[in-house]
Amino acid sequence: MHKDICEILISEEQIRTKVAELGQQISEHYQGKNLLLLGTLKGAVPFIADLARAIHVPLELDYMAVASYGDSTVSSGIVRITKDLEGPIDHKHVLIIEDIIDSGLTLHYLIDLLRRRNPLSLRICALLTKDRKRLQEIECDYVGFHIPDRFVVGYGLDYAQRYRNLPYVGILKPSVYEGSQKPQTEHQSPAER
Ligand code: XMP
Ligand code: MG
Repeated sequence: MHKDICEILISEEQIRTKVAELGQQISEHYQGKNLLLLGTLKGAVPFIADLARAIHVPLELDYMAVASYGDSTVSSGIVRITKDLEGPIDHKHVLIIEDIIDSGLTLHYLIDLLRRRNPLSLRICALLTKDRKRLQEIECDYVGFHIPDRFVVGYGLDYAQRYRNLPYVGILKPSVYEGSQKPQTEHQSPAER
């Protein structure tokens, strides 16, 4: 285990098993459909890479990156797109692949924006959802794991851009961020983390 991690919440093995299960369910649902997997940068990259290979229907991959708009300490829920999709989605079934749902604000904004582009359908797949009161309710169609309201890193998730390459999801030792700014899980968007 990495020296900065105090507890492994979800092991590599658990992730592997879950990804295979999700891939199976998603394959059944999207049989014969024009599927676009939309990954959110950067946190969802390991997840979408593994999941795409567990889905056995033809699909396309594309990515979006979003950042908090203005003062990141105010949870306005308004986010700015820093990388958009390459093309229109009005003839596609879109499945958003997200690393984690926390307050729900980022995803709420993204869903709103994508709906206005008239995809044939729009569903959500999140590896993790935190057990907490959301600022915006999100209906998630596929969930990997429910986790406690703790700051987690690994398998794409970062603290100050580090730990994304850990093969498991773990809780960061508080001593790592003591003295610097505590990781915020409510008000910052992916690009700020
Ligand atoms: P909201 O609150 O809008 O945020 O649902 C979702 C985004 O916040 C990031 N996030 C985390 N990143 N460890 C992280 O490394 C965490 O515990 C955590 N909680 C939220 C993440 O980028 C997610 O997309
Ligand atoms: Mg994310």
